[in-house]
Amino acid sequence: MRIVFLCVVIFFFENVVAQNTITIAVDKGKDIINRNIYGHFAEHLGHCIYGGFYVGKNNKAIPNKNGIRLDIIEALKKLKIPVLRWPGGCFADNYHWKDGIGPKNKRKQTENVSWGNVREDNSFGTNEFLQLCEMMNAEPYLAVNVGGGTVQEAAEWVQYVNHANGSSYLTDIRQQSGRTKPWHVKYWGVGNESWDCGGHMTVEYYISQYKKFATFMTSYSNTEGLFRIAVGPGTEDFKWTEALMRDIPSKLLEGISIHHYSVINWSKKGSATLFSEEEYFNTIKQAYRMEKMISGNCEVMDKYDSGKKVALVVDEWGGWYDSEPNSKGAILYQQNTMRDAMIAGLTLNIFNNHADRVRMANLAQCINVLQAVILTKEEKMILTPTYHVMEMYNVHQDAMQLPLQLQTEKYIFGKDTVDAVNASASKDKNGIVHISLVNVHATKQQVIKINLEGSTYKNVTGRILQSERLQDHNTFDKPEAVVPKPFTGAKFAANLLEVVLPPFSVVVLKII
Ligand code: AHR
Repeated sequence: MRIVFLCVVIFFFENVVAQNTITIAVDKGKDIINRNIYGHFAEHLGHCIYGGFYVGKNNKAIPNKNGIRLDIIEALKKLKIPVLRWPGGCFADNYHWKDGIGPKNKRKQTENVSWGNVREDNSFGTNEFLQLCEMMNAEPYLAVNVGGGTVQEAAEWVQYVNHANGSSYLTDIRQQSGRTKPWHVKYWGVGNESWDCGGHMTVEYYISQYKKFATFMTSYSNTEGLFRIAVGPGTEDFKWTEALMRDIPSKLLEGISIHHYSVINWSKKGSATLFSEEEYFNTIKQAYRMEKMISGNCEVMDKYDSGKKVALVVDEWGGWYDSEPNSKGAILYQQNTMRDAMIAGLTLNIFNNHADRVRMANLAQCINVLQAVILTKEEKMILTPTYHVMEMYNVHQDAMQLPLQLQTEKYIFGKDTVDAVNASASKDKNGIVHISLVNVHATKQQVIKINLEGSTYKNVTGRILQSERLQDHNTFDKPEAVVPKPFTGAKFAANLLEVVLPPFSVVVLKII
């Protein structure tokens, strides 16, 4: 009897009471969505750099410019990638930049002790990375070695890439390498995960290191305008953030980074493609944790910096599963399914909605590693569902974020629930409104009523990414199994916009 009653109550709430409504204040936007939220990350790890971005200039089978793969550049240009982080990750705290400059045949051969102890021939170094960024029209973001490097090494790296020609032997070396003018690299990360692979430091120890690095990388008053990013927490450890905000003089700090991966269980991550609905639900639950990570950090940062001068930078995020079977040297190589499209859509919505403080983010990682947008196999290349979400969402870059109020149904699994729908909206410089909507529910479509407050918009078009099965993905044999299609499920009825979102789908609407 009790069970029947419970079922009736659940049915009633799921189907009668529950509904999805969104109210968007079209004229009340005040924050610009920084395009750097749509940034990426590339580490010397598996086949992200070697065999991914970089195939070597003697490669005759794959078209390249100075060894940088051209089909990848073409595909990435469509994403409008604004910023690319390099060389790590954990690798950054083992990387000595001078090993990667000068004639290639004289470069030091080192060991990548962070990832698989493979031999690192340093053929892809600073000049190659900065050329790659120029080819992609992306700003570079360099992570300096705090754990295993010195302050002098970091300061000299800044001089090598940024100082005027002729200022020192470092800029002479730059000139000998064929590059006369400085690159003017703005973004500099000071270490990586210093609480773990970056040196297992306490926050107090890290802060004293940070202050030295941040001081000597710049002139006394940072006339170079470097944007220095301190290592923040990788969990909901807001005390770490509080210590950074309290103890680092504000003139030395422009950003704080956080990392968050959507992992079900670090010791049992599960397959990227063979997963149950329970595993799917738990991944989505982990992805939603990003909201808590960001609001918790924002709360602390607001306490010390109400003017929001210091940016929150989510410089590693994405789904993390077991590597593909038989992927051998391709460390952390994983496939990418509709589950990853859900992670991407919901995470980017969270970032957009926190545009006032989150001013950069970097998907981990761009190619062949973790939640990649591109996978390669020799001369073949595929675009993943995550690629398509990033491409659909690039309309939000540098647009005005529109505040929205969302009431959503719940996606219930067992005793647990998450929001079924999430959304963000923006208005671009031509007055076009874009709304990105995600229905993470694995089995149920969602009807959403959207009120565009105080507006006269009448025309709606859109694109959708959806598929038959959550596990669907693109392969080298079927590269277009999952691609965006025109969306016809939105219409204006009276003053409301009514949208029907199929289960596990991502939609971006264009409203004029
Ligand atoms: O992205 C892979 C690794 O994850 C990075 O090297 C590290 O920073 C993080 O733990």
